[in-house]
Amino acid sequence: MKRKRKKLILIIVILLVLSIICFSSVIYLNKRKEPNDNMNNNPTKDNESIDNIDPLEVALRNETYFLERNLSRYLSYAKENPDIETKEIITRVNTNLDYAFYTHDIDSNLDDDLLIIVNKYHKLPSDYEPELVEMDSKYVNWGKRYMHPTAYEHLVEMIEDASKEGIRLFSVSPYRSYNTQKSLYNNYVASHGQEEADTFSARPGYSEHQTGLAVDLNTTDENAHFENTKEGKWLQENAYKYGFILRYPQDKEYITGYIFEPWHYRYVGTEVASYINEHQITYDEYYAFFIEK
Ligand code: DAL
Ligand code: ZN
Repeated sequence: MKRKRKKLILIIVILLVLSIICFSSVIYLNKRKEPNDNMNNNPTKDNESIDNIDPLEVALRNETYFLERNLSRYLSYAKENPDIETKEIITRVNTNLDYAFYTHDIDSNLDDDLLIIVNKYHKLPSDYEPELVEMDSKYVNWGKRYMHPTAYEHLVEMIEDASKEGIRLFSVSPYRSYNTQKSLYNNYVASHGQEEADTFSARPGYSEHQTGLAVDLNTTDENAHFENTKEGKWLQENAYKYGFILRYPQDKEYITGYIFEPWHYRYVGTEVASYINEHQITYDEYYAFFIEK
């Protein structure tokens, strides 16, 4: 009987201890929840700082091609140009348009290889010569002409496929050395004045032709508006399948710095060319977002 009483007392004690533990845990967990509940009802310091983020910054961050590294430049450019929408601010700053052409030189990254960029901000060394291969005379209008072997291989494929559809294409200007570009540009400056020459001819060191990856294409009728010829139209519809992009499109003159050049194609490979074709962006925009470090 005594043993039975002892056992009962032990059970009661255990139950009591367990109840105390449970009760304390509930109180502890409720206490921990309180700050969060408060946050929902009364803004804490953290919430205030979220509310205080500049709405312009929020809008910029929501744009597809937003780049963290350009944030302060977006903000300055947007403040100086309050009427320009955020998507356009992103485009302009990413492509360096917050600096005037030829006032902000960056060395072209030679390690980018087939994706190298050359424009009015990215410059090649005067002694830069890419890997080159001599072109077959049936693909050029005259003389010995050269291109980067990869670009050339795909150009040949494109020209041959086009000819099966009755489209005759040939190159009028593929690779140009620094010195060739220099005489070309200087001649244009002499005949048209520098301001106009800059709209269609690159200064030496700033021409994509020096990479061997760009090519000017034409048709049998050199006087026609190339974009309206069946050859020009075929290229606009098909070039991306061979890895070529129209480098200086219509309505993008303010980004590229050059007038519409329906004849100038640049090899970037099919993956990049397909993206650019689908999203209708310039290579300058693509490079800033996907390639530039
Ligand atoms: N016409 C192009 C822009 C060049 O001179 O490279
Ligand atoms: Zn060209």
